[in-house]
Amino acid sequence: MPELNPRATALSIPGIRVFSNQVQLFEDGVNLTIGQPDFPTPDSVKNAAITAINNNKTGYSLNAGIVELRQAAAEFFADKYNAHYTADEVVITNGASEALDSVLRTILTDGDEVIITAPAYPAYESLIKLNGGVVKYLDVSDTEFVPNIEKLDALVTNSTKAVLLNYPSNPTGASLSEKDVKDIANYISTKDLFLISDEIYSENVYENKHISFGSMENIRDKTILIHGVSKSHSMTGWRVGYTLSPRHLSDEILKVHLNNSICAAVPSQYAALEALTNAKDFPKVMNEAYLKRRDYVYERLIKMGCTVEKPGGAFYIFPNIAFTGMDDWDFATALLKEKHMAVVPGSSFSEHGAGHIRISFASTIETLEEGMNRLEAFVKDLS
Ligand SMILES: Cc1ncc(COP(=O)(O)O)c(C=O)c1O
Repeated sequence: MPELNPRATALSIPGIRVFSNQVQLFEDGVNLTIGQPDFPTPDSVKNAAITAINNNKTGYSLNAGIVELRQAAAEFFADKYNAHYTADEVVITNGASEALDSVLRTILTDGDEVIITAPAYPAYESLIKLNGGVVKYLDVSDTEFVPNIEKLDALVTNSTKAVLLNYPSNPTGASLSEKDVKDIANYISTKDLFLISDEIYSENVYENKHISFGSMENIRDKTILIHGVSKSHSMTGWRVGYTLSPRHLSDEILKVHLNNSICAAVPSQYAALEALTNAKDFPKVMNEAYLKRRDYVYERLIKMGCTVEKPGGAFYIFPNIAFTGMDDWDFATALLKEKHMAVVPGSSFSEHGAGHIRISFASTIETLEEGMNRLEAFVKDLS
């Protein structure tokens, strides 16, 4: 057998999958691992795709995506986040996942270091390593899940190519204040680094407005935003994401993207166009439900004795379960076995997530109530 790429064989199946697959074996299982909205895609969005198909919009599009969608994505960012891009600065991809991969392939050469805040979305480490990069974790577990500039500065070396941030965050639900964003932008502006900002959860925010790094003019020339409609419009299966970055970067990202995908699925692009124009306020409908669920789960966790930050965004909450004396992986395994309930162990999001579990509140309030009852009973049994 010829040798496979060791960077590929070294990858592992994320912890999220391990637990979400196993819980399905139980008829009475409660699955709180889910990283997708539990709402249907809006009807007008579905109809836009059906109309596109009926109108034979089924061939390739321009590699960067249909012009109308690129324009809509640019206008969405201008209206919602005061971040200004032209349609030529947008590349439509197959989900934010492909956007991330295309960006990393565009900027990384072997040995380049990428700083990511941790606990972190697991695909970052995999994609950085697949592309020859080296992961440097910026531990945010002791700074309310928000990056600390001194700690960031201590990680920067001559080999650092980029800082990759994800706010609102998966898995912690933390979001950044305007001051946080400004401080980070000011720091990045003094360094020879790219900033990749994965803002896929930007529409899922509760008390405070989302502040986009795209609105920071002092780092515009080196910032690449990652976004898409998966989370904002409950469109995870449609596979539409995009990058926003200045022309000198987007032209290069486009070349990588067109060689691996040619273009994003065209009926899905028409659906995304409807999402970002006529259905642009749909996230508010979901947020009303998420907010109630977040507060419910938060209160229940506090009553159980967990230390937990109230998430400002996304649909995850990341309680500390170390008070139980159990390791997070053993905790999640025993919870699954004894109570037929799945959560994600924090160490799936790097060693900096150890001692925590991730609970998704993208489930009905009834499911969350049942889940919290089981969790509470499990914690009581331990003591
Ligand atoms: C932080 C983050 N970035 C990117 C993605 C991938 O999004 P998409 O479904 O658009 O590929 C996810 C999905 O869970 C995510 O949590």
